[in-house]
Amino acid sequence: MLKSKKTQPAATAPSAPRVLALGAALASLADTALAGAILDQAGLDRLAAARTATCDLVLIDADAWEAPALAQALQALSTAPAAPPVLLVGERLPTTVVRNLLRLERSDVLEAPFTPEQVAQAMAALLAAAAPAATPQADSSRCWAITGAVGGAGATTLAVEVATTLAARAGKEKSVCLIDLNLADGAAAAYLGAQPALRLAGMGASAERIDAAMLQAFVTPVSKQLDLLAGLREPGAFDAIGREAVLRMLEVACECYEWVILDIPRHRRPWTLEALSGCDEVLVVSELTVPALLAARSLADEIEEALGPDRKPRIVLNRLASRMFGPAPSMSEAERALGRKADAGVSSDWEAAAASVNLGGPIAQHRPKSKIVRDVQAMVERLSAEPGRKEQAGAKRAA
Ligand SMILES: Nc1ncnc2c1ncn2[C@@H]1O[C@H](COP(=O)(O)OP(=O)(O)OP(=O)(O)O)[C@@H](O)[C@H]1O
Ligand SMILES: [Mg+2]
Repeated sequence: MLKSKKTQPAATAPSAPRVLALGAALASLADTALAGAILDQAGLDRLAAARTATCDLVLIDADAWEAPALAQALQALSTAPAAPPVLLVGERLPTTVVRNLLRLERSDVLEAPFTPEQVAQAMAALLAAAAPAATPQADSSRCWAITGAVGGAGATTLAVEVATTLAARAGKEKSVCLIDLNLADGAAAAYLGAQPALRLAGMGASAERIDAAMLQAFVTPVSKQLDLLAGLREPGAFDAIGREAVLRMLEVACECYEWVILDIPRHRRPWTLEALSGCDEVLVVSELTVPALLAARSLADEIEEALGPDRKPRIVLNRLASRMFGPAPSMSEAERALGRKADAGVSSDWEAAAASVNLGGPIAQHRPKSKIVRDVQAMVERLSAEPGRKEQAGAKRAA
């Protein structure tokens, strides 16, 4: 039987923002700007007593309340300790109400008509101002990209396990960030049993505003050491989040975390090559079938051609079975099809992989003795022992 979400360990608890929404009409934003938030719809009587301990942001529909009562409640809130940020939206924004709103440490106003994206963006900015920033540690940062040669090769599974392995070795909190760049329908959050924070489109429209604090408003802590940056399912996300925003997000992540692991979509996006060029390692995941090996060879060749010969992608053969059912290429046949050596292999273990995705959480948590965990650990040990690009560049300069 599947474990219910409620019984999952606290380590995978969602970090969705808790939003107190005052005004019945705000319910219409539940599936857009407020998707991913923990929503508490209430009356104006709750405003004066709102505190950061139980609420991350208050969203008020100014048109739903009488101006004197709203102004008075805002005045009371502005004198209280630990008042959460307030976003006021509406058609009628009386001066007395706005003046009292401005007494708050953090607040913003959106005049109707506005789009759900504008609401999401204003909320993200207020939440970012409230969130503690991770300490920049760019000097030691290392970034690995993982992508599949064919659909379903295991890129997301391995990205989750690599990030988990690195987090388990990390001493410091917030050492590793796993970023799911399958912006429209990424699976990393579901595999981890974690909740994506907000709609990433809220970040997409304002590349220049992305900084450490804003990044923190979007990440979901998975454990003390591991954060996840992933969006909610959003069919238009690849269009809504531009090249500049993606690259800026990666740049800031590399400033904030010691390790950044990217789950990269197979199909090339306007930012793919630039994102890969900033990585220390690019892992192309393939299976041991002829079409997958040929696809891995083409993809690795394309990447190498674009990034140069010193940036050879690594080939990881996933789902290796000790006893094959049906004809499968031998390792030497596989390497002939690849036109290069495979850099790592990960055993097949369907039971462990299924337990992980169905229970929500890495294989290392649900099936720590799985061969997948052992193989990923060996690969991480080996690759992380090699110097990162910054060290290599330093060594070249010194020579
Ligand atoms: N080593 C493995 N042994 C057994 N099953 C595995 C292994 N690696 C991945 N799987 C399973 O294979 C399926 C596809 O894996 P995954 O979603 O990671 O692939 P992907 O390359 O990210 O796919 P997509 O192209 O959809 O992004 C999942 O059900 C996963 O649990
Ligand atoms: Mg995937």
